[in-house]
Amino acid sequence: MKIHNVFPTLIFTHKIDLDYHSIYKNLNDIEWDQESQQMSKNKNVINRVFLDLKPQISSFVGEVMESFGFEEHCIFRSWVTKIQSGHRSDFHTHINSFYSGVLYFHDNSSPLILRHPFPFCTHISLSDKFKHYNTDENLYYEPKAGEIIMFPSYLYHSVSINTTNSTRYSMAFNVVPTGTYGNYDSKITVSVSESDN
Ligand SMILES: [Fe+2]
Repeated sequence: MKIHNVFPTLIFTHKIDLDYHSIYKNLNDIEWDQESQQMSKNKNVINRVFLDLKPQISSFVGEVMESFGFEEHCIFRSWVTKIQSGHRSDFHTHINSFYSGVLYFHDNSSPLILRHPFPFCTHISLSDKFKHYNTDENLYYEPKAGEIIMFPSYLYHSVSINTTNSTRYSMAFNVVPTGTYGNYDSKITVSVSESDN
């Protein structure tokens, strides 16, 4: 028997160097969205707050997008997420985005939970002997400081409960391909306006 692992979900990870002194100084200055209290008001923190991290993040994002064949892309919307001790976030997707990324500022952060995109995995409970096919309903990613994870924006994800005594901070961002791509009747030229960036 042959097994073909078709339609994979590609998750990319990378580690960058963090200057903690500058990060904590920047986190202290963040204004928080009144409604959610979990997101920074500023939705362009990569260009307005964490400019020193931008070269390392951009280089990784560029590699990810090139692996799909996209020569140009735009990191639009980037924000800081704050999860206080005893809190968590609900499952959600990132709309109007191709890939999403999260950069972690601490070790021992509460895990990111990625939900399996295939419906059968959330409706049928399989025995442990099928674990090697990644049939678990959820994948728990335990991040380390400086790690960035990128996943398809359509994947439902959440942050599990923060069981530590300290507040958990991370920076999230969305990416879309830009420029001209596609062929014939599917060819398109995409640009992101300054106000959406
Ligand atoms: Fe998210």
